[in-house]
Amino acid sequence: MYQYIGDLTHYREITGGIEAAAGPEHTLRVEYLEDTGFRVRYASPGPFSKLFSNATLENPPQPKSIRVRDHDNFIVLQAGDAEAIIHKTPLRLTFRDPSGFEFHKDSFGAAFREGKVAHFTHKPPQAVYYGLGEKAGGLNRTNRAFTNWNTDMPGYGKHEDPLYKTFPFYIGLQGGTAWGVFYDNPFKTDFDFGARLKDHAGYYADGGELRYYVFYGPGIKRVLQCYTGLTGRTPLPPLWSLGYHQSRWSYYPEHEVRLLAEEFRQRSIPCDALHLDIDYMDGYRVFTWDERHFPHPRKMLSDLKDKGFKVVVLVDPGVKTDPDYPVYREGLQSGFFATLPDGSPYRGEVWPGETCFPDFSHPGARIWWGNRHRMLIDQGVRGIWTDMNEPAVFGGKTMPDIVLFHNEGRGGGHAEMHNQYGLLMAKATYEGLVDIRSDERPFVLTRAAYAGVQRYSSVWTGDNSATWDDVGLAPPMLMGLGLAGVPFAGYDIGGFTGTPDGEMYLRSLQIGAFAPFMRTHTAFDTGRQEPWSYGKEYEHINREIIRFRYRLLPYLYTAFYQHTQTGSPVMRPLVWEFQDDEQVYDMDDQFLFGDHLMVAPVVKKGSEQRTVYLPRGTWYNFFTGERVQGGQTITVKAPLITVDIFNKVYDQPLRGIPVFVRAGAAIAMGEVQQYTGEKETTALDLKLFDGSSRSLLYEDDGHSFHYEKGAFRLTTIETRSAGRYLEIETRQTGAFEKAAGLFRAAITGLTHPPATVTLNGEACPFLYEPAGKTLRLDFFAGAHLLRIDKGTA
Ligand code: GLC
Repeated sequence: MYQYIGDLTHYREITGGIEAAAGPEHTLRVEYLEDTGFRVRYASPGPFSKLFSNATLENPPQPKSIRVRDHDNFIVLQAGDAEAIIHKTPLRLTFRDPSGFEFHKDSFGAAFREGKVAHFTHKPPQAVYYGLGEKAGGLNRTNRAFTNWNTDMPGYGKHEDPLYKTFPFYIGLQGGTAWGVFYDNPFKTDFDFGARLKDHAGYYADGGELRYYVFYGPGIKRVLQCYTGLTGRTPLPPLWSLGYHQSRWSYYPEHEVRLLAEEFRQRSIPCDALHLDIDYMDGYRVFTWDERHFPHPRKMLSDLKDKGFKVVVLVDPGVKTDPDYPVYREGLQSGFFATLPDGSPYRGEVWPGETCFPDFSHPGARIWWGNRHRMLIDQGVRGIWTDMNEPAVFGGKTMPDIVLFHNEGRGGGHAEMHNQYGLLMAKATYEGLVDIRSDERPFVLTRAAYAGVQRYSSVWTGDNSATWDDVGLAPPMLMGLGLAGVPFAGYDIGGFTGTPDGEMYLRSLQIGAFAPFMRTHTAFDTGRQEPWSYGKEYEHINREIIRFRYRLLPYLYTAFYQHTQTGSPVMRPLVWEFQDDEQVYDMDDQFLFGDHLMVAPVVKKGSEQRTVYLPRGTWYNFFTGERVQGGQTITVKAPLITVDIFNKVYDQPLRGIPVFVRAGAAIAMGEVQQYTGEKETTALDLKLFDGSSRSLLYEDDGHSFHYEKGAFRLTTIETRSAGRYLEIETRQTGAFEKAAGLFRAAITGLTHPPATVTLNGEACPFLYEPAGKTLRLDFFAGAHLLRIDKGTA
């Protein structure tokens, strides 16, 4: 039986809030953390243990003094724009905003049972819930229940739960006001958003402390800013990692890998990264090469590098228990493996057969593991793909709960460490790579994760399948990850299990072109899955969409930069921008890409058109330039085979994926390149759309940390459209010598030739194309004011 909290017996003020007791059994701390939100902790029974979390930043926001007012029946903690109210009889918490709206309110409140903890709040009928990161099914989690227990789930379907990752963080939204709650507890948890208890939001954890953070919006944007201010953000990735990645289980031997690379270049399909799955290793021993299949890795990697390819290799956590294998011997001698109660290393079965598992919660083990990548990196490997780190163990799915971990000296069992295993492996890998190459940004990819993983790694959604359901699952799953503070996410394009046909692959690839991480990957027993595997016509449109991705890289990179500043996702649900528009609350098949683009992919077999909801405001069809008023649903053609290959009409193939852009946007686009850095960027195209807005463009060298010392350039482009005039104002900060020097602007939406165009007050040459209603003009980088007198028809 759960025990609920009784009446408040006494309390005292502490920095940022209060510590209160409800009898001898329960102690509660409520503290306001600067610029973040409230932290609530229960010690039942006390005393409080030293605050520790792998999810939050090493230097998290600290409690800040606030006003504490005691009214007879309740205490109010007033912090800027939100208040915490501690009711005394019984002890229950309510959080409310300045208008008095109670956004997070205990119902039964905190509950305890033999080491388990639970928490119940009111769930008003109008409230909707987003969150928990990577979950199958719709993005809106209202009236559903979920479990967080990292699980290897090959070929999962749209109702499968749990999957690979755990993010005990959700965002509530009611009447247009948003708040967030993060339960900082890695144990197995259940969240119930009204499925089992209709009028309550329920949280249950198998162990650990009842500790949660409450963030007040009112915008979802601010909620995520606060959450990522606490758990961290993804540092700027290497630019190449935003290009196209090609993978399968597995490309080998060396000859096959070289052919693959050759084929991309011959067919002029841009590609930056090739992934080597487990077969590159010697008997699946991590940090080795199979010398039969890869006799000269250094040479192969250097030849591939010359062609612009970066190679990413898979590293599993399981270390083969082979006495002749140095990695095993080192781990054993140093006591770096997870153990059984008698101190002997735990052994489980994975790809190599019997394996031991590094204890990534041991700081020494992390350093050892991180450094173990040195050989691979020295040979020329550019990225590390970590996998099976739920941890997945054959037989029983994962480790038994008796397995023990160091837990930074505190000790911990598998039940506590399980969900953190992937996070800590990613941390070990990331920190190791920084240590080995301190001037290069690492690229790490992980399957399992826990809150905070965004500080170290990109993620992918594991072993999806080649089904139409899974094509449709990609956007909501990636949007879910974005709302959990993880912007750098992708899925296996084309599906991991099963073989897609050309149509399915194309539709999957079209979404992938807008996935922050874009990689085709498939299992060992499936058909060929390269962009050219489905015949000439498909190859043509597949190529075009990948090229389009490359053109968009400056814009995409800017979205990553924006994430570093505010925690904003790259792929965003419409509710991100339009949270008072109920029509978008359940929208899984449309998403925003960065600040200005809205993508509406086709996710149904045989569809050559679809309806698109345009939220309020003015929009343009990105490819046709057609202007459309928002606040309506329209039908858009999205043909499958759009091109007559003999009649090369180059922008046509892109019509297969509807993309809209907000009025006033300025989208910076680069040249098509076969790989990032193939060409020096001296000029950028600036696609502008008549209207009023603000756009950013961020540039730096794309691979080092020099930007931290100011070697970047940030361009702000402000558009103001009023009456006859359109003004475009650019401003630039930062110092990056190799930033684009020229902007080639193409302004869409001017219905007739302009009367005059001035640049900083002087007449400026331009070209007007009546067919596309487009005005073209070039200007050099710098601070400018462009003024267009649109004239009269
Ligand atoms: C797991 C991964 C998959 C990989 C395979 C072999 O199933 O999720 O991506 O190809 O292992 O390493």
